[in-house]
Amino acid sequence: MDAEYIKEGIKGAIGKDIFFCEIVDSTNTVAAMLAEKGEEEGTVVIADSQSKGRGRLGKSWASPPGVNVYMSIVLRPEMETGNATLITIMASVACAKALRRVTGLDITIKWPNDLMVSGKKLGGILTETRLAHKKIEYVITGIGINVNIDSDVLPNVIRESATSIKTETGKFFSREEIMKEVLNEINDSYNILKEKRYSELILQWRELTSTLGRTVKIILGKETLEGFAEAINDKGMLIVRLPSGTSRTVHYGGVTLLR
Ligand code: BTN
Repeated sequence: MDAEYIKEGIKGAIGKDIFFCEIVDSTNTVAAMLAEKGEEEGTVVIADSQSKGRGRLGKSWASPPGVNVYMSIVLRPEMETGNATLITIMASVACAKALRRVTGLDITIKWPNDLMVSGKKLGGILTETRLAHKKIEYVITGIGINVNIDSDVLPNVIRESATSIKTETGKFFSREEIMKEVLNEINDSYNILKEKRYSELILQWRELTSTLGRTVKIILGKETLEGFAEAINDKGMLIVRLPSGTSRTVHYGGVTLLR
């Protein structure tokens, strides 16, 4: 992978410094180690493969070599901890916009941050926040995108529900090009976040989502909810109307679109 090519095409602070590793346990873990040592906002870690790629909600993330995008970004946003969901919203908007432009696919976002096409998952975002004295010290935003992997080599457990850009388009895509476009889009979206133009981000997210207006099942630890996804609030949380008629605000969980 050519990190120099990516760096040369970057238009902002995010992605000016890129660490490339052939293989890591998880790019999020490496980025967190760098952040602990004081690495600046905008530093990016990319890898050809991960031996312990991590997904949301304690799941693993299939990370074979030579085919996909695995990258993590160090951010140091000055924002209230209660607004942290917006970082994920910001990253998912940026990824969806960049991937729609590069691939021409009709990519949508499933709350909060699954990148979907034809009802299948194409990519995901794992945001990990380090707090100190009730303030955000740093955030690691990890992005995984299935690019050139053939669906039939995806692990059995996700084969039915996952896809890749190559599977959907029938074409091979440059991972460097995708990373460059995603990082440039994150530079733009992160500026919106830093300027606290939160409603603008939420609006963009709403335009790209496939979750609102659907009946959803949400697994929240041991609890499972079913209801109508009616809105996301100004902090990026999902508002679900339950069959009883009451509304519930959800800030994490695994969502399945039912109807
Ligand atoms: C999800 O479950 O949808 C989130 C998946 C996030 C995967 C990416 S790949 C790069 C970074 N490193 C990790 O271990 N996970 C994230």
